[in-house]
Amino acid sequence: MKEKVLILDFGSQYTQLIARRVRELNVYCEIQPYNKPITEEDGLKALILSGSPFSVKDDNALRIPLQELAGKYPILAICYGAQLVADELGGEVARSHKREYGKAHLINMQHEDPIFRGIPEDSQVWMSHADHILHLPKGYQIIAGTENIEVAAFRSGAHELPHPIYGFQFHPEVTHSEHGRQLLENFLFQIAGCRGEWTPATFVEETVEQIKRQAGNEGVLLGLSGGVDSSVAAALLHRAIGDRLVCFFIDNGLLRKGEYEEVLYSYRDMGLNIVGVDAKAEFYAALKGLSDPEAKRKAIGRTFVEVFQREAAKLHDIQWLAQGTIYPDVIESVSVHGPSVTIKSHHNVGGLPDILHLKLIEPLRMLFKDEVRRVGRALSLPEDILGRHPFPGPGLAIRILGEVTPEKVALLQEADAIFIGELRREGLYEQVWQAATILLPIQSVGVMGDERTYEKTVVLRAVNSLDGMTAEWSRLPHDFLARVSNRIINQVKGINRVVYDISTKPPATIEWE
Ligand code: XMP
Repeated sequence: MKEKVLILDFGSQYTQLIARRVRELNVYCEIQPYNKPITEEDGLKALILSGSPFSVKDDNALRIPLQELAGKYPILAICYGAQLVADELGGEVARSHKREYGKAHLINMQHEDPIFRGIPEDSQVWMSHADHILHLPKGYQIIAGTENIEVAAFRSGAHELPHPIYGFQFHPEVTHSEHGRQLLENFLFQIAGCRGEWTPATFVEETVEQIKRQAGNEGVLLGLSGGVDSSVAAALLHRAIGDRLVCFFIDNGLLRKGEYEEVLYSYRDMGLNIVGVDAKAEFYAALKGLSDPEAKRKAIGRTFVEVFQREAAKLHDIQWLAQGTIYPDVIESVSVHGPSVTIKSHHNVGGLPDILHLKLIEPLRMLFKDEVRRVGRALSLPEDILGRHPFPGPGLAIRILGEVTPEKVALLQEADAIFIGELRREGLYEQVWQAATILLPIQSVGVMGDERTYEKTVVLRAVNSLDGMTAEWSRLPHDFLARVSNRIINQVKGINRVVYDISTKPPATIEWE
């Protein structure tokens, strides 16, 4: 029986982090909105209640039928979740407008409780809450406090429920909670009786079997981008159905220097049945005269669909379209501030399965990005594909501000190849999350030898990030930046100025368009 833990999301910024931590312990878990009914399954081992930006004292507080759930499954309730348990089951929560935010230390711990196995007194935890618990429900016990609050952790009475409820006012999922991983491990293994059998190897085994059942003898088509997700999806499908997987790799003329050839060779080495499509001219034609970022994205998306459709029509016996969709794209999240605003239209190729009248297969749908990489390693994919920086679908088109021309692409490719090449040479490539070179639509004055120049500027951008949602600019060594700048200005004719972007996201974004 495949074991599973369900995380009920009350809108916390940390919900996905809880899921990642649970899965790092090889326990499969899923996130679902707090108000979606729980499907009773044999393998369902425990519930985790997330935090929330709401207060249980609000009139519109998010509630679940805790009376019914108590005792049915082991429950770990975090922050808001813990307050909800207290509030719903007869305890009391005090409203506060003052936030306790930051580090605290667990004291007065009940060390004999299995949840604290291996965790010393004074262990540092991360707090982020306003309200606090005044009284626990009848029969519940405080099992730890901190220097600031009496109830930092509690549990239901030892013999009152068939399965216990634990509540933590702090966040075990964030790394500032020193023994957070151990606490989660104790809950999952000591309390909920999980076995921890969900590993990249078992995922590969199960998914390959599932694809075989799903696709049977039918053919599958996949568009490769050179990125991690589509490559891992291809490797999984290939293992399941061999040459009945046909892959397209489209050269849109907006890739990095030499990337099309390099990636095509590594895919061939992997044994993939791959069709390379040179569509540069079509993409450049579609981009001609466009300078608005969204218009460029749309033109690229449209051209991609056209090229894909035309090439697909040349194939026979294809019933499925595979996509490298990953879990963060499909999690139904609790919307706290109303529907989220589309800031950039990232999903460039949506709708392809419908247009092509194909059934959709998404083998990575339940994985986080770091899990995709681990699965890729289990499939022995080359490290240069797995370690690749994220690269946007519209490619260099959104790194050339204003209108895109083949000449500007060639210029940017040269500068970018120097930046990326130097990052690799210095062992810095792996240390930054994403690096980009951006071509600005301005010219400025310079001097070269005795001559005055009036040429273009490129921006170097390197960021550290977890998931691209927030980003910090990378503190690259000054000597390194000096060398990259010298090489670009001396070797790339047409560029006389190099600048380094020191903006964080938010309020800036990673890409410039
Ligand atoms: P921003 O610029 O929004 O980028 O901070 C966050 C991450 O998303 C990538 N990005 C895109 N990816 N199509 C894509 O496939 C797009 O239109 C697009 N725009 C941005 C960006 O490279 C970064 O990793």
